[in-house]
Amino acid sequence: MKAIRIHEFGGKEVMKYEDIPQPQPGTGEIRIRIIAAGVNPMDWKIRSGMIGEMPLPMTMGIDVAGVVDAQGPGEVSFQPGEEVFAKVSIGQGSYAEYTVVNSAQVARKPKSIGFVESAAIPTAGLAAWQSLFDIAGLEKGQSVLIHGAAGGVGSFAVQFARWKGAYVIGTASEKNKQFLKSIGTDEFIDYKKQRFEDAAGKVDVVLDTIGGDTFDRSWGVLKPGGFLVSTVARIPEGVPEKYGVHAQTLMTRADGEELAQIAAIIDEQPVKPVVTTILPLSEAQKAHEMSETHHTRGKIVLRVAEDPQ
Ligand SMILES: NC(=O)c1ccc[n+]([C@@H]2O[C@H](COP(=O)([O-])OP(=O)(O)OC[C@H]3O[C@@H](n4cnc5c(N)ncnc54)[C@H](OP(=O)(O)O)[C@@H]3O)[C@@H](O)[C@H]2O)c1
Repeated sequence: MKAIRIHEFGGKEVMKYEDIPQPQPGTGEIRIRIIAAGVNPMDWKIRSGMIGEMPLPMTMGIDVAGVVDAQGPGEVSFQPGEEVFAKVSIGQGSYAEYTVVNSAQVARKPKSIGFVESAAIPTAGLAAWQSLFDIAGLEKGQSVLIHGAAGGVGSFAVQFARWKGAYVIGTASEKNKQFLKSIGTDEFIDYKKQRFEDAAGKVDVVLDTIGGDTFDRSWGVLKPGGFLVSTVARIPEGVPEKYGVHAQTLMTRADGEELAQIAAIIDEQPVKPVVTTILPLSEAQKAHEMSETHHTRGKIVLRVAEDPQ
């Protein structure tokens, strides 16, 4: 089968389009024939070696949508032919024609959208869901400031928070103003022109997907007892206590049950993955080049195969 693999860590050129054997599903696993693979910043962080040493060679990618193709011994949760999506474990790979994944990480794909949009969901959708609801406990009527609201995680977070009935403030640059309004932000802050501390007032929850100075300046916008969740920054010791707030760094869990909940909301409510770029699998290098700008809107997805008839 075709796969995008790395044999060393480095720039985008270390990704090679290769022929490798089809993986075989083990106990508790299914094999998925991949139709589309989502691209995440995590992919190029792994590729570049930023995340640290990992076994090589490695098939890239962690987000997948496709069709169940085979079951491992004793595995009965999903039948061949079912349309599914999943966050696969690092190294199992989604930039490929097939992958194997533990069935607990898999859910049936939303019926109302295609494979390409479904492949955009797993990591960014779970990151937004787990940050807002599992960690910060965001409730109806509360306010949330989302940094990086136009990105992969942010565009899901805005829609989930809106679905929950929260008041949503999003930061992005001017070019994303109308886009953020269209997906449900109540207030827009252009981070290049305004200090969010001056514009946002006090909020119950901050979701930071940017880090650095944006993270450091976020403590002061929280109400007492508020929650700061960051997808990137470590929480410095003693600082949450100093501000009388809670804080946690997200570590996204691969969770098939939560993906099923997200799929149900997508099928019932106006929450939709935002896919702005679709490239063929062979153009993974271009996808990484785009993602590494830090300024893409919504998600980039690699199309691996045509939709099944
Ligand atoms: N810990 C975890 O488990 C976990 C899970 C998922 C993601 N992450 C991490 O979270 C981060 C975000 O992921 P993502 O997929 O959302 O990334 P992404 O899609 O690449 O984010 C791009 C967006 O960031 C915005 N942006 C850039 N600089 C900004 C700033 N200073 N203020 C506000 N917005 C800014 C851009 O908007 P403009 O073009 O308008 O500037 C763009 O829309 C990544 O570092 C990723 O690795 C971590």
